[in-house]
Amino acid sequence: MTRRWLRERRSEHYYKLAKKENLRSRAAFKLKQLNEKYNIIKKGDRVLDIGSAPGGWLLSIKEIVGENSIIVGVDVQTISEIEGVHFILGDITDSEIIDKITRISSEFDVVTSDCSPNVSGNWELDHARQIYLAEKSLETAIKVLAKGGSLIVKVFQGELFEEFIDKIRRYFSKVIVTKPEASRRKSSEVYVLGLKFTGQRD
Ligand SMILES: C[S@@+](CC[C@H](N)C(=O)[O-])C[C@H]1O[C@@H](n2cnc3c(N)ncnc32)[C@H](O)[C@@H]1O
Repeated sequence: MTRRWLRERRSEHYYKLAKKENLRSRAAFKLKQLNEKYNIIKKGDRVLDIGSAPGGWLLSIKEIVGENSIIVGVDVQTISEIEGVHFILGDITDSEIIDKITRISSEFDVVTSDCSPNVSGNWELDHARQIYLAEKSLETAIKVLAKGGSLIVKVFQGELFEEFIDKIRRYFSKVIVTKPEASRRKSSEVYVLGLKFTGQRD
């Protein structure tokens, strides 16, 4: 990390705002903006959040769904505890992760995934790795979503993007590709919303 990088990062509007509002991440604004516009997560919803560290989305989800719902977070990195949130330290590409998730709740109304790999700087490799995480998130969503449920998944755009979108279309009645204002304009990330899960599980 260079000093210049740190300076630029610190001067960023959303980074500052996240600090001011005591949020764990700048990423929290992306979810807030997506939900304000599309009203996907609602009070009482059961939500699974994949790639949740350091916990910015989990805090926002908790604020929306309220106290008496089920929130499960999964990440390969640990987070500091959030009251009322179940956290699984685990890898979404691990076949045993489903059992760990469904032991807490067999069904969810919404699955969110903000997964990113450790970026190497090799754009094609990073794109392929990120799409793989998005695909694993989709596979998990198909197994745990209630019929009519929704998926929010981050995707790095690139040559594998269209194929991934086609895959999502098989399972959801409506698919929207969007980029919230809090997402860096220069970044290739977009968020794909799968609305009204059809209930098809294969
Ligand atoms: C951009 S961060 C998520 C930020 C989070 N939404 C927030 O608001 O705090 C991406 C996360 O994906 C996680 N991740 C990467 N590979 C993963 C995997 N195989 N399984 C689970 N999480 C993974 C990383 O550890 C990282 O914490």
